[in-house]
Amino acid sequence: MGNNLFLTKSLAGLLQEAKDNKAGLRKTLTGLNLTTLGIGAIIGAGIFVLTGQAAAQYAGPAIVISFIISGTACAFAGLCYAEFASMIPIAGSAYTYSYATLGEFLAWIIGWDLILEYLFAAATVSVGWSGYVVSFLNDFGIIIPTALTAATGSILVDVPNIGWQELTKNLSAGLLAKGINVETLPHITAIINLPAMFIIAALTIILVIGIRESANFNNIMVIVKVAVIILFIAIGVAFVQVGNWEPFIPKNTGEWGHFGWSGILRGAGVIFFAYIGFDAVSTAAQEAKNPQRDMPIGILGSLSISTVLYILMAIVLTGIVSYTTLNVSDPVAVGVNAMGEGMFWLRPIVKIAAIAGLSSVILVMLLGQPRIFYSMSKDGLLPPVFSKVHPKFKTPHISTILTGCAAILLAGVLPIGILGELVSIGTLLAFAIVCISIVVLRKTRPDLERPFRTPWVPLIPILGALICIVQMAALPFDTWLRLIIWMAIGVVIYFTYSINHSVQRKLKNDKK
Ligand code: ALA
Repeated sequence: MGNNLFLTKSLAGLLQEAKDNKAGLRKTLTGLNLTTLGIGAIIGAGIFVLTGQAAAQYAGPAIVISFIISGTACAFAGLCYAEFASMIPIAGSAYTYSYATLGEFLAWIIGWDLILEYLFAAATVSVGWSGYVVSFLNDFGIIIPTALTAATGSILVDVPNIGWQELTKNLSAGLLAKGINVETLPHITAIINLPAMFIIAALTIILVIGIRESANFNNIMVIVKVAVIILFIAIGVAFVQVGNWEPFIPKNTGEWGHFGWSGILRGAGVIFFAYIGFDAVSTAAQEAKNPQRDMPIGILGSLSISTVLYILMAIVLTGIVSYTTLNVSDPVAVGVNAMGEGMFWLRPIVKIAAIAGLSSVILVMLLGQPRIFYSMSKDGLLPPVFSKVHPKFKTPHISTILTGCAAILLAGVLPIGILGELVSIGTLLAFAIVCISIVVLRKTRPDLERPFRTPWVPLIPILGALICIVQMAALPFDTWLRLIIWMAIGVVIYFTYSINHSVQRKLKNDKK
């Protein structure tokens, strides 16, 4: 058994694989489907939950600049993804691209890392979904027992006028500032996050039934969320008070990351989460009708549309209310409240849009993960069961169900903070590797047909990789530690299982 860790998969073989479609996956997605798939994955917890917190704590109205910075970094990575996805239209996304360029070991590392992005993002966003659904049902008098709405073991406190909230340092400090000692409020220890588990189970069923059904469900969710965001922006403009934008960049408090330019950068790091998902389009390459043409359309189209909506939304939201009031988990609802009683009808509509938005993010993340497992299994790096395709539904049903079960477990028991930061660090690593791979492949295989070419290579990919690495560096040490532990587990699996089952290795040894 050779032990060349940099063994690459031949591009000719990959292209043949794409052409043959032995996979049996159903090719039904159009350019428009792929764009809505991207928007489905992108617009979610980032805009509906995190924007307000990032504006209130770090950037103020200049959160708009944070959105532009983070969006630019993602655009660089997006251009690199578009080049790869049009050139190698195989389901494995960044995993497949690095198998062709950087070799098997790094491909395994990135495939393992992508689990942090897709599977963990599905779990993270389902926790946000649970929060919105519990509050929506509450408005109609339907109460889900509090102990069944948060991660196992987390402490919830009943805050006057707000209701049950997860006990965090921020919450205690905020309440203390208002003269309330958190110890005096009623407490409860959560058992499990049941709604979060429910939504993952329900979406997993749709994903098993079919790619067309999943795309249709996603389209409906996307139409709802985009329509409501446009409605909010259009109505909100009339309620903007210019004074709320002053000072546009609040003065730094003396601490790095708290307002001023460092706050804008920190805000960009938090807001990065809002852009995650455009790369999920590339996992559906084998189900696209014309991937060479439509992959770049799907990736770049969804990223551009979401970026424009985010920037407009941030401008309007920070114009309607003072950024200082936005440190809540439903900032858009705070914006609607500030429009006055005449606009109360918009409140449930915004909640529905958030629920639709978060549902589509979870759906696309749960769609992407099994397709990466599928490619890894086809290459022998994961057991064959991961690449089984259902004879009737034509979906990778077993890996979809396994992904769903793992996500249900994570969503039920882990708190959102830990999950979210792991998603960001894992995704940033994947983006950086994809950017670097573009430069490598341009050097090693300049001859290849590239239906879409990233402009200004190597400048754009190098800048893309650098910005990702800087953003990774800004994440807390604990998150790095978790990433390192996760990767160490991956390395053990590679050397105990994958290296011994690799199809490429077998082919190479047979040739000898
Ligand atoms: N971008 C996705 C969201 O904001 C992950 O929820």
